[in-house]
Amino acid sequence: MAFISMETIDKSFHQVKVLHQVNLDLGEGEIHALLGENGAGKSTLMNILGGVLQPDSGTIYVNGAPVSMTTPGDSQKLGISFIHQELNVVSDLRVYENMFLGSEIRNKAGFLNVEAMKQKTRDVLSRLGVSLDPSAYVRDLGTSHKQFIEISKALLRDSSVIIMDEPTTALSEHEISRLFELMTTLKESGVSIIYISHKLKEIKAICDRYTVLRDGFIAGTGSLEEEDPESITKMMVGRSVSQERFTREHVPGDEVMRVEDFSKTGLFQGIDFTIREGEIAGFTGLAGDGRTELFEALFGFRKKDSGSLYVHGKKVVVNHPNHALRAGIGLVPRDRKENAVIQDLSIVHNLTLSSLGHFEKNGFITKKQERKAFQRYKNELNIKARDPYASIATLSGGNQQKVVIAKWLEVNADVIIFDNPTQGIDVGAKREIYQHIVSLAEQGKSIIILSSEAPEILKMCEHIYVMYKGEITARLNRDETAEDEIMACATGSKRMVESIG
Ligand SMILES: Nc1ncnc2c1ncn2[C@@H]1O[C@H](COP(=O)(O)OP(=O)(O)OP(=O)(O)O)[C@@H](O)[C@H]1O
Ligand SMILES: [Mg+2]
Repeated sequence: MAFISMETIDKSFHQVKVLHQVNLDLGEGEIHALLGENGAGKSTLMNILGGVLQPDSGTIYVNGAPVSMTTPGDSQKLGISFIHQELNVVSDLRVYENMFLGSEIRNKAGFLNVEAMKQKTRDVLSRLGVSLDPSAYVRDLGTSHKQFIEISKALLRDSSVIIMDEPTTALSEHEISRLFELMTTLKESGVSIIYISHKLKEIKAICDRYTVLRDGFIAGTGSLEEEDPESITKMMVGRSVSQERFTREHVPGDEVMRVEDFSKTGLFQGIDFTIREGEIAGFTGLAGDGRTELFEALFGFRKKDSGSLYVHGKKVVVNHPNHALRAGIGLVPRDRKENAVIQDLSIVHNLTLSSLGHFEKNGFITKKQERKAFQRYKNELNIKARDPYASIATLSGGNQQKVVIAKWLEVNADVIIFDNPTQGIDVGAKREIYQHIVSLAEQGKSIIILSSEAPEILKMCEHIYVMYKGEITARLNRDETAEDEIMACATGSKRMVESIG
C-alpha cells in the first residue's frame, strides 16, 4: 500500500484548470521524482499536499485513510515537511530564529530557550556539512546558505515525508552531493521524499520512481530504472528534444572587451581575456573557481584589488553596475530567485524594466510596446502566462525565470554575461533560450556564459575558459576539446593556457 496517495486531484486558478484528475502514489522510504515542464503543475500539486492550497476535488490518503488538510499546519501534523521552490527565510532574523519560527523551544517558565535552539540548529546544519553561526543574521548569508536553512527547517521536524521543490538550484556540486548523501540516509530510515528538479542527471542518480506532469495531466509514472532520459524528456515535452551542438558560420569580429590582470585576493587572480564581436565564450569550473565573483567584479557588483577593463579599446572604470551598463555590459545574475524577480510587479513590468530594475529605466515605454514585447517572448520562450498585467507571483518558478531572461535578451548591451542561464528551466525551453543567445551573437553581440555544466558550455560556446581556484587554467577551442579534458582542467590536474583564436 502506498504511504501517501493523492487521487483524482483537480485544481483551477480563476477558471483556468491547472491540474486534471492527477494521481500520485508515494511509498515508504521512496524517493519519487516529480517531473514536468515549467508551468506543468508540480508546485501546485505539492502546495496541495503541503496544505498551502485546497484542491477543487480529489482525495489525499495517508496510510490508507483519507485526510483533510486546510492549513500547512495540518500537513505538518501528518508528518509532511515542505521545502519550497522560493526561499522562505526572513532576512532580519538570525539563523536559529528562522529555524524555529513558529515552533520556538521554551523552558518550563515559558521563556525562550535560546541555547537549546542554537544547539539544535548547529546539529542539524552539521548533518548537512554546513558550518554556520546560528546567531548570524540571514541577510548576511549567501543564497546557498539560505537554501540550507530551508532544508534544515524540514529536517528539524521528524518528518515522514519531505517535499523538495527544486532544492539544488542555488547549490554547488559539492553541496548537492552532501544533500544526496543525506537524502539516502533519510530514505534508509524510512523517510519518503518527493523530489522536483529539471536536472535529469540528478533524478537518475537519486530517485527510485517518477511521475511526469504535462499541462496538468499525468503523462506517465513508473520506475526510473526502466527509463532512459530521452523517453522521460519526451513524456515531459511531448516531442523529442535534440541534443546536438549549436554550430554556426562565425567570423570573429573586432575586439569588444578586454580584461587585463583582474585580481581580488582569495577570489581570483591574474585574469586576462578578450571577447570579440559576435563571439560566444564560456566560463566553467567547479565550486570555488571564482567565476561568478570575477564577473560580479567586472560588472561593478563587488570590489576588485586590481585590473583594467577596456571596451572597444577604451579604458573604462566600473565601480557600480550603472557604469558597466553605460559601457554596454549587461549581466544576468546567478541568483535570479533572490535578485532579479520583483515579486510586487506585474509580468510585463518585470519584462520591460531595463537593466536591474532599481538602477534605471530605459526611457518611456508605451503600453502597446509592453504588450508587444510580452507577446513576442511569450511565444518564443513558451512562457505560460495569460495576462501580461497579472502579478509575476502568479507564474510558476521557471516561467518567472524566463521573464528575467527575456528582459535581458531585450537589453541593448554589446556584451551580455549570463550566469547560469538555464537554472530552473525545463529541457524544451532551454533549447529556445540557447537559440536566442545564438541569434544575439549573430546580430554581433558578444556573449559570455557562465555555467558549471560542461555539456552546456560545449553546446553553446566557441571558446571555453576553465577556471580553477580563481585562475584561468585552460583556454580551449570547442572543436579541439571534450568534456573529460574540461574536467581535468577544472580539477586543477591539467593546464592549457596558450591563447586561443
Ligand atoms: N497563484 C496563482 N494564480 C494564478 N495562476 C497560478 C498561481 N499559481 C500557479 N498558477 C499557474 O498554474 C500553473 C502551474 O504552475 P506551477 O507553479 O504548479 O508549475 P510548475 O510545474 O511548478 O513549474 P516550474 O517548473 O516552472 O516551477 C501555471 O500556469 C501557473 O501560472
Ligand atoms: Mg514550480
